[in-house]
Amino acid sequence: MSTFTVTPGKPFGALLEPAGPGRALGDVEPAAVRELLTEHRVVVLRGFHPCERKEELVDWARRWGPLLSWSFGDVLDLEVHDDPRDYVFTAGPVPYHWDGAFAEQVPGHQIFQCVKAPAAGGETVFCDTGLVLDALPEDTRRIWEGLRITYRKEKTAHYGGTVTADLIQTHPHSGEPVVRYAEPLDPETFLSPLFLDVEGLPGELTAEAFFADIERRLYDPQVTYHHAWQDGDYVITDNHALLHGRTAFTAGSARHLRRVHVL
Ligand SMILES: [Fe+2]
Repeated sequence: MSTFTVTPGKPFGALLEPAGPGRALGDVEPAAVRELLTEHRVVVLRGFHPCERKEELVDWARRWGPLLSWSFGDVLDLEVHDDPRDYVFTAGPVPYHWDGAFAEQVPGHQIFQCVKAPAAGGETVFCDTGLVLDALPEDTRRIWEGLRITYRKEKTAHYGGTVTADLIQTHPHSGEPVVRYAEPLDPETFLSPLFLDVEGLPGELTAEAFFADIERRLYDPQVTYHHAWQDGDYVITDNHALLHGRTAFTAGSARHLRRVHVL
Protein backbone atom coordinates (compact mmCIF):
# COMPACT_ATOMS: atom_id res chain seq x y z
CA MET A 1 0.00 0.00 0.00
CA SER A 2 3.04 2.27 -0.16
CA THR A 3 1.75 3.74 -3.42
CA PHE A 4 -1.27 5.04 -1.54
CA THR A 5 -1.73 7.48 1.29
CA VAL A 6 -4.18 6.91 4.14
CA THR A 7 -5.64 9.83 6.08
CA PRO A 8 -7.73 8.98 9.14
CA GLY A 9 -11.00 10.89 9.50
CA LYS A 10 -12.86 12.11 12.58
CA PRO A 11 -14.50 10.54 14.50
CA PHE A 12 -13.93 7.56 12.20
CA GLY A 13 -13.43 6.72 8.52
CA ALA A 14 -10.28 6.88 6.40
CA LEU A 15 -9.41 8.44 3.06
CA LEU A 16 -7.22 6.37 0.76
CA GLU A 17 -5.66 8.20 -2.19
CA PRO A 18 -3.15 7.17 -4.83
CA ALA A 19 0.28 8.74 -4.41
CA GLY A 20 0.37 9.50 -8.14
CA PRO A 21 -1.93 9.66 -11.17
CA GLY A 22 -3.14 6.80 -13.30
CA ARG A 23 -4.38 4.44 -10.63
CA ALA A 24 -7.46 2.29 -11.12
CA LEU A 25 -9.71 0.63 -8.58
CA GLY A 26 -8.27 -2.72 -9.65
CA ASP A 27 -4.85 -1.62 -8.33
CA VAL A 28 -6.21 -1.59 -4.78
CA GLU A 29 -5.96 -4.86 -2.86
CA PRO A 30 -9.27 -5.67 -1.14
CA ALA A 31 -7.34 -7.31 1.73
CA ALA A 32 -5.63 -3.99 2.50
CA VAL A 33 -8.96 -2.13 2.53
CA ARG A 34 -10.49 -4.86 4.68
CA GLU A 35 -7.74 -4.30 7.21
CA LEU A 36 -8.36 -0.54 7.18
CA LEU A 37 -12.08 -1.18 7.73
CA THR A 38 -11.35 -3.03 10.97
CA GLU A 39 -10.06 0.20 12.45
CA HIS A 40 -11.87 2.89 10.48
CA ARG A 41 -15.28 1.30 9.54
CA VAL A 42 -15.53 3.39 6.35
CA VAL A 43 -12.84 3.74 3.68
CA VAL A 44 -13.14 6.39 0.97
CA LEU A 45 -11.10 5.84 -2.18
CA ARG A 46 -10.61 9.16 -3.99
CA GLY A 47 -8.52 10.12 -6.98
CA PHE A 48 -8.80 6.84 -8.90
CA HIS A 49 -9.95 6.37 -12.46
CA PRO A 50 -13.72 6.01 -12.46
CA CYS A 51 -15.10 2.64 -13.56
CA GLU A 52 -17.00 3.45 -16.72
CA ARG A 53 -18.76 0.11 -16.82
CA LYS A 54 -20.59 -1.57 -13.97
CA GLU A 55 -18.73 -4.79 -14.73
CA GLU A 56 -15.42 -3.25 -13.62
CA LEU A 57 -16.93 -2.44 -10.25
CA VAL A 58 -18.43 -5.93 -9.98
CA ASP A 59 -15.13 -7.57 -10.93
CA TRP A 60 -13.36 -5.72 -8.11
CA ALA A 61 -16.16 -6.47 -5.66
CA ARG A 62 -15.89 -10.20 -6.47
CA ARG A 63 -12.29 -10.09 -5.28
CA TRP A 64 -13.73 -9.44 -1.81
CA GLY A 65 -15.86 -12.58 -1.83
CA PRO A 66 -19.33 -13.73 -2.91
CA LEU A 67 -21.81 -10.99 -3.70
CA LEU A 68 -25.39 -10.65 -2.56
CA SER A 69 -27.48 -10.74 -5.72
CA TRP A 70 -30.82 -8.98 -5.69
CA SER A 71 -33.80 -9.10 -8.02
CA PHE A 72 -32.10 -6.41 -10.15
CA GLY A 73 -28.71 -8.17 -10.16
CA ASP A 74 -25.45 -7.30 -8.41
CA VAL A 75 -25.48 -3.52 -8.84
CA LEU A 76 -28.11 -1.17 -7.46
CA ASP A 77 -28.31 2.16 -9.26
CA LEU A 78 -29.29 4.66 -6.61
CA GLU A 79 -30.90 7.58 -8.39
CA VAL A 80 -34.17 9.43 -8.42
CA HIS A 81 -36.93 7.62 -10.30
CA ASP A 82 -39.56 9.49 -12.32
CA ASP A 83 -42.38 7.63 -10.60
CA PRO A 84 -40.85 6.17 -7.42
CA ARG A 85 -42.63 3.49 -5.40
CA ASP A 86 -40.03 3.54 -2.64
CA TYR A 87 -38.65 6.51 -0.72
CA VAL A 88 -35.06 5.44 -1.48
CA PHE A 89 -35.62 6.51 -5.09
CA THR A 90 -36.77 10.02 -4.21
CA ALA A 91 -34.58 13.03 -3.36
CA GLY A 92 -35.83 12.91 0.24
CA PRO A 93 -33.91 11.89 3.35
CA VAL A 94 -33.21 8.26 4.21
CA PRO A 95 -33.16 7.60 7.96
CA TYR A 96 -30.74 5.14 9.53
CA HIS A 97 -30.92 1.45 8.76
CA TRP A 98 -28.59 -1.41 7.96
CA ASP A 99 -28.62 -3.04 4.55
CA GLY A 100 -29.96 -6.56 4.16
CA ALA A 101 -32.20 -6.56 7.24
CA PHE A 102 -34.86 -8.35 5.21
CA ALA A 103 -32.42 -10.47 3.19
CA GLU A 104 -31.53 -14.08 3.99
CA GLN A 105 -27.96 -13.06 4.74
CA VAL A 106 -26.82 -9.62 5.82
CA PRO A 107 -23.99 -8.35 3.61
CA GLY A 108 -20.73 -7.61 5.40
CA HIS A 109 -19.71 -4.78 3.14
CA GLN A 110 -21.19 -2.18 0.87
CA ILE A 111 -19.12 -0.95 -2.05
CA PHE A 112 -20.33 2.33 -3.52
CA GLN A 113 -19.22 4.19 -6.62
CA CYS A 114 -20.25 7.79 -7.06
CA VAL A 115 -21.03 8.22 -10.75
CA LYS A 116 -22.50 11.69 -10.22
CA ALA A 117 -22.44 13.67 -7.01
CA PRO A 118 -25.40 15.94 -6.25
CA ALA A 119 -24.92 19.69 -6.38
CA ALA A 120 -25.81 19.99 -2.69
CA GLY A 121 -26.98 17.64 0.05
CA GLY A 122 -27.40 13.92 -0.55
CA GLU A 123 -24.62 13.10 1.92
CA THR A 124 -24.48 9.56 3.21
CA VAL A 125 -24.49 9.58 7.00
CA PHE A 126 -22.76 6.76 8.85
CA CYS A 127 -23.10 5.94 12.54
CA ASP A 128 -20.41 3.84 14.22
CA THR A 129 -22.55 1.83 16.61
CA GLY A 130 -19.53 0.66 18.60
CA LEU A 131 -18.91 4.29 19.55
CA VAL A 132 -22.60 4.64 20.49
CA LEU A 133 -22.34 1.68 22.85
CA ASP A 134 -19.07 2.94 24.32
CA ALA A 135 -20.81 6.18 25.32
CA LEU A 136 -24.00 4.55 26.61
CA PRO A 137 -24.83 4.86 30.33
CA GLU A 138 -24.99 1.49 32.10
CA ASP A 139 -28.73 1.62 32.85
CA THR A 140 -29.57 2.46 29.22
CA ARG A 141 -27.29 -0.34 28.06
CA ARG A 142 -29.21 -2.80 30.22
CA ILE A 143 -32.50 -1.65 28.69
CA TRP A 144 -31.18 -1.87 25.14
CA GLU A 145 -29.85 -5.38 25.75
CA GLY A 146 -33.40 -6.53 26.52
CA LEU A 147 -35.02 -5.06 23.39
CA ARG A 148 -36.19 -6.91 20.30
CA ILE A 149 -37.75 -5.01 17.45
CA THR A 150 -40.05 -6.27 14.73
CA TYR A 151 -39.86 -4.26 11.50
CA ARG A 152 -42.66 -4.29 8.94
CA LYS A 153 -42.35 -2.78 5.50
CA GLU A 154 -44.33 -3.35 2.36
CA LYS A 155 -42.10 -4.66 -0.41
CA THR A 156 -42.22 -1.58 -2.62
CA ALA A 157 -38.69 -2.20 -3.92
CA HIS A 158 -36.17 -5.06 -3.76
CA TYR A 159 -36.53 -5.31 0.02
CA GLY A 160 -39.34 -5.49 2.54
CA GLY A 161 -41.39 -7.90 4.61
CA THR A 162 -41.31 -8.58 8.34
CA VAL A 163 -38.22 -9.25 10.40
CA THR A 164 -37.46 -9.36 14.12
CA ALA A 165 -34.02 -8.42 15.39
CA ASP A 166 -32.33 -7.88 18.75
CA LEU A 167 -31.30 -4.26 19.15
CA ILE A 168 -27.82 -5.27 20.30
CA GLN A 169 -26.12 -8.04 18.37
CA THR A 170 -22.63 -9.44 17.96
CA HIS A 171 -20.54 -8.45 14.96
CA PRO A 172 -20.11 -11.77 13.10
CA HIS A 173 -16.44 -11.10 12.28
CA SER A 174 -15.04 -9.03 15.16
CA GLY A 175 -17.26 -10.40 17.94
CA GLU A 176 -17.86 -6.85 19.19
CA PRO A 177 -21.34 -5.69 20.21
CA VAL A 178 -23.15 -3.61 17.60
CA VAL A 179 -26.53 -1.88 17.32
CA ARG A 180 -28.96 -3.09 14.66
CA TYR A 181 -31.69 -0.51 14.26
CA ALA A 182 -33.81 0.98 11.51
CA GLU A 183 -35.66 4.17 12.25
CA PRO A 184 -39.45 4.20 11.95
CA LEU A 185 -40.74 5.78 8.74
CA ASP A 186 -43.94 7.70 9.29
CA PRO A 187 -46.54 7.12 6.54
CA GLU A 188 -47.34 10.86 6.66
CA THR A 189 -43.81 11.68 5.52
CA PHE A 190 -42.45 8.65 3.68
CA LEU A 191 -43.66 7.08 0.47
CA SER A 192 -43.05 3.59 1.85
CA PRO A 193 -43.44 3.51 5.65
CA LEU A 194 -41.58 1.28 8.09
CA PHE A 195 -43.39 0.21 11.26
CA LEU A 196 -41.66 -0.91 14.43
CA ASP A 197 -42.94 -3.00 17.34
CA VAL A 198 -40.58 -2.85 20.29
CA GLU A 199 -40.61 -5.76 22.77
CA GLY A 200 -38.96 -5.64 26.16
CA LEU A 201 -39.40 -1.98 27.12
CA PRO A 202 -39.58 -1.42 30.87
CA GLY A 203 -42.99 -0.18 32.04
CA GLU A 204 -41.96 3.45 32.46
CA LEU A 205 -40.50 3.78 28.96
CA THR A 206 -42.82 4.28 26.00
CA ALA A 207 -41.81 3.31 22.47
CA GLU A 208 -41.95 7.00 21.50
CA ALA A 209 -39.55 7.95 24.29
CA PHE A 210 -37.20 5.15 23.22
CA PHE A 211 -37.32 6.30 19.57
CA ALA A 212 -36.46 9.87 20.61
CA ASP A 213 -33.62 8.77 22.89
CA ILE A 214 -31.96 6.42 20.41
CA GLU A 215 -32.30 9.02 17.63
CA ARG A 216 -30.44 11.56 19.75
CA ARG A 217 -27.66 9.08 20.51
CA LEU A 218 -27.26 7.80 16.91
CA TYR A 219 -27.00 11.31 15.44
CA ASP A 220 -24.52 12.60 18.02
CA PRO A 221 -21.65 14.21 16.04
CA GLN A 222 -19.21 12.13 18.13
CA VAL A 223 -20.47 8.93 16.48
CA THR A 224 -21.35 10.09 12.95
CA TYR A 225 -19.48 10.65 9.73
CA HIS A 226 -21.15 12.57 6.90
CA HIS A 227 -19.77 11.66 3.52
CA ALA A 228 -20.10 14.47 0.99
CA TRP A 229 -19.79 12.69 -2.36
CA GLN A 230 -17.45 13.74 -5.13
CA ASP A 231 -17.65 12.33 -8.64
CA GLY A 232 -15.51 9.20 -8.83
CA ASP A 233 -15.47 8.40 -5.09
CA TYR A 234 -15.56 4.79 -4.02
CA VAL A 235 -16.72 4.07 -0.49
CA ILE A 236 -16.41 0.73 1.27
CA THR A 237 -18.14 0.13 4.58
CA ASP A 238 -18.51 -2.33 7.43
CA ASN A 239 -22.26 -2.89 7.20
CA HIS A 240 -22.34 -4.97 10.41
CA ALA A 241 -20.78 -2.23 12.55
CA LEU A 242 -22.44 0.82 11.01
CA LEU A 243 -25.87 2.18 10.39
CA HIS A 244 -26.31 4.52 7.46
CA GLY A 245 -28.77 6.96 5.99
CA ARG A 246 -28.82 9.95 3.68
CA THR A 247 -29.63 13.62 3.81
CA ALA A 248 -32.10 15.07 1.32
CA PHE A 249 -30.84 16.67 -1.86
CA THR A 250 -32.28 18.97 -4.47
CA ALA A 251 -34.99 17.27 -6.49
CA GLY A 252 -33.83 17.05 -10.09
CA SER A 253 -30.19 16.87 -9.00
CA ALA A 254 -28.39 14.14 -10.89
CA ARG A 255 -27.18 12.14 -7.85
CA HIS A 256 -26.17 8.69 -9.07
CA LEU A 257 -24.48 6.06 -6.92
CA ARG A 258 -23.85 2.44 -7.72
CA ARG A 259 -23.88 -0.02 -4.85
CA VAL A 260 -22.70 -3.62 -4.57
CA HIS A 261 -23.11 -5.86 -1.51
CA VAL A 262 -20.37 -8.28 -0.50
CA LEU A 263 -21.53 -11.08 1.80
FE1 LIG B 1 -29.03 1.37 2.70
